[in-house]
Amino acid sequence: MGWFRRNEEKRARRFRETYEQRRQIRRQLMDHAADILASDNFRSTRSHLQHGSMTVYKHCMDVAGCSLLLNEKLGLGCDQHDLIRGALLHDYFLYDWHDKAYLSQRKRLHGFWHPGIALRNAEKEYELTDRQREIIRKHMWPLSVVPPTCREAWVVTAADKYCSLMETVGLHRGHGAQAS
Ligand SMILES: [Fe+2]
Ligand SMILES: [Fe+2]
Repeated sequence: MGWFRRNEEKRARRFRETYEQRRQIRRQLMDHAADILASDNFRSTRSHLQHGSMTVYKHCMDVAGCSLLLNEKLGLGCDQHDLIRGALLHDYFLYDWHDKAYLSQRKRLHGFWHPGIALRNAEKEYELTDRQREIIRKHMWPLSVVPPTCREAWVVTAADKYCSLMETVGLHRGHGAQAS
């Protein structure tokens, strides 16, 4: 009975901690990027799938949250504003990369092209800093060949790879694309 109760208490504590952690991340995202989160284009990424049933929207939110946690847990001292905005916009390519008819022969090369396309789209709508540009441009390293030159870009690159892997093996699941 003692073991059972201790186990239940541990689970409840873990649940509260996870809930509080998510609430804090959500607050940080709102503090630094309320304009991005409320924009029609960013919200339109809910209708594009990334991996499995995960949408591009949820993927970018997860990468931003994971980047914040990495920065905090490892004490990396990243600029939080740039980290969050760069992470949210790192896949701002604004098309469905599974749509063969739309992408035709480019589909195979999505991995190479989309950081540049995302950067161009983001530049049109937002005043980007050099760090934010670096995050978007280099997040597919080593495909980008030239490695990231700031810690914020390294953190987002790592968070993106972790989230993509979890989505691909089915450990991070989304709810499928929503009608646009
Ligand atoms: Fe990407
Ligand atoms: Fe990504």
